[in-house]
Amino acid sequence: MPLEDSLIAELGDIAAAGLTRCRRVLESPCGRLATVDGREVLNFASNDYLGLAGNAEIARAMADGATQWGAGSGASHLVSGHLAPHEKLEQEIAVFTGFPRALTFSTGYLANLAVTPTLAGRGDAVFADKLNHASLIDAMRLAKANGADCRRYPHNDLAALEKMLAESAAPRKIIVTDAVFSMDGDLAPLPALFALAERFDAWLVIDDAHGFGVLGPQGKGSLGFFNLPAHPRLLLMGTLGKAAGVGGAFVAGSETAIEYLLQRGRSYIFTTAAPPAVACALSRSLDIIRHGDALRTTLMARIAQLRDGLAGLPWRLLPSATAIQPLIVGENEAAIRLSTALWERGLWLPAIRPPTVPPGTARLRISVSAAHTEADIARLVGTLKELA
Ligand SMILES: Cc1ncc(COP(=O)(O)O)c(C=O)c1O
Repeated sequence: MPLEDSLIAELGDIAAAGLTRCRRVLESPCGRLATVDGREVLNFASNDYLGLAGNAEIARAMADGATQWGAGSGASHLVSGHLAPHEKLEQEIAVFTGFPRALTFSTGYLANLAVTPTLAGRGDAVFADKLNHASLIDAMRLAKANGADCRRYPHNDLAALEKMLAESAAPRKIIVTDAVFSMDGDLAPLPALFALAERFDAWLVIDDAHGFGVLGPQGKGSLGFFNLPAHPRLLLMGTLGKAAGVGGAFVAGSETAIEYLLQRGRSYIFTTAAPPAVACALSRSLDIIRHGDALRTTLMARIAQLRDGLAGLPWRLLPSATAIQPLIVGENEAAIRLSTALWERGLWLPAIRPPTVPPGTARLRISVSAAHTEADIARLVGTLKELA
């Protein structure tokens, strides 16, 4: 079959399974309200947990940064694209996270691709949580292609992981986990995972995309939440396009591990550095996060209000203490129907379906932000009750 026809056939299959995805075009900046097709809706779809994507100070830092440093970096970091704002940001992230050194990336996806396959090759072993984010799964696939033995343990199952570690004779073992699972909102048991890493002489790679800025003192993230200090056995990835409100990511770790990633991480080396203005904006964002306890208190109050309000509905709210509040609907069509009914009532909540989540657990992923008001949450709760 010619290529075009085979693609058309596959697209037909996707549509028949109710899995076609479509994009909505926003006619307004990211915020608690979004304008789509000229209509204003309440936005529970973004990962802008602290409401910083529309922050005027951060936008000004970006504009000033572009004026001073120009629009682009011009090259990859190792060639000539590593400008003073990038260097400053890396140093600020290292100080903030408590690790000796940090490296910044254009996206979290690229950051994850730089870690696991760079550290794990022939003869090494990777142990990954089954519910890890797609970018970590792809990183694991690359490690596998490099010859690493890659295994997935059932979600947060420490006993299963322990057994796998005990059976492994690999000289380099790497445990990889989301800190806050992106479609469930629950936390990985980081202290217990770290204890296993110590016991079996393994590294622990943590993806804190959804914890950074939100959890722990000063928003330092999941490690702060669990009171786990920086350690040479730990590598921390954080994204900067979610709570930080801008874009990009970092990996923080020991001096040696970061130097190794800089020398060998293909998705670090072979890509153009982010525009320096992005780094200027992120320096400002980091400052706001550091002093953002009031934002985090508001966010936690909104989460508590939502959870209280949704108790007793026919749909199951997963036990999550984070900004990600998944409401399990079940079948794909039912999740889409609910999402559409909410949309018609001016509420934007995306239906998340397989393959992103397991079959039969299609859900609404309610993303709470400090930018939401008490009235916003009350409106969502009221509408869901009416639809139930
Ligand atoms: C857990 C997790 N890791 C990594 C990423 C990728 O980050 P980025 O969007 O910056 O590429 C995401 C989301 O996109 C995520 O949810």
